Amino acid sequence: MTTILQLNSSVFSDSGTSSSLADTFVQQWYRREPDALLIRRDLASDSIPHLTAETFAAAGMPPQERTPAQANAALLADTLVAEVLRADILVIGLPVYNFNLPSTLKAWFDHVARAGTTFRYGSDGPEGLLPIKHAYIFTASGGRYAGGPADFQAPYLKHMLGFLGINNVTFTYAEGLSMGDAGRESAVARAEEQIEVLLSA
Ligand SMILES: Cc1cc2nc3c(=O)[nH]c(=O)nc-3n(C[C@H](O)[C@H](O)[C@H](O)COP(=O)(O)O)c2cc1C
Repeated sequence: MTTILQLNSSVFSDSGTSSSLADTFVQQWYRREPDALLIRRDLASDSIPHLTAETFAAAGMPPQERTPAQANAALLADTLVAEVLRADILVIGLPVYNFNLPSTLKAWFDHVARAGTTFRYGSDGPEGLLPIKHAYIFTASGGRYAGGPADFQAPYLKHMLGFLGINNVTFTYAEGLSMGDAGRESAVARAEEQIEVLLSA
């Protein structure tokens, strides 16, 4: 049974184009595997705060050594780490905001990157420890950047996910959404077709 961890990061929650594409992918996955387990987070309506020194220090301590205040400070980070350790598949709805990923998603990474748990450094350098087999990213942007010099998202995400041990990463793009209705509709339709192809493989 597959456990899917879905992170939607559009400020528009379910109405965001990236959320809608990620939701379509997950719904179609369910048609293929009805007993899959879904852990779904909406990073807009249930936002993750910026990491603080207090949370970072508490999250790095063994749970039995934490004071009650430290246990409280580490609670959200512990929950997010438990979710990501449990997942087989990661699905991210990813808008482009100011040429990069939403800060809420960066905050999620800041909470789940934990030395000794989700990555470690050995004699050969960093080693990712997440058991996730594949990440599927559904991006939505007003302009078109994929593969070009202003595509700051994909290189960062591939690097960050690889650092945590996720080396299979597939991007599906809905681009040029601010360039007129016709372009918008065809970009979304193309992304939906790509989802069909992904899941028929
Ligand atoms: C705050 C904000 C910043 C944006 N910045 C960019 C940008 O830098 N480049 C771009 O192409 N589109 C930008 N857009 C347009 C979004 O990428 C586009 O509306 C996309 O559909 C957002 O995905 P969503 O609907 O899932 O939220 C921005 C939109 C918002 C709300």
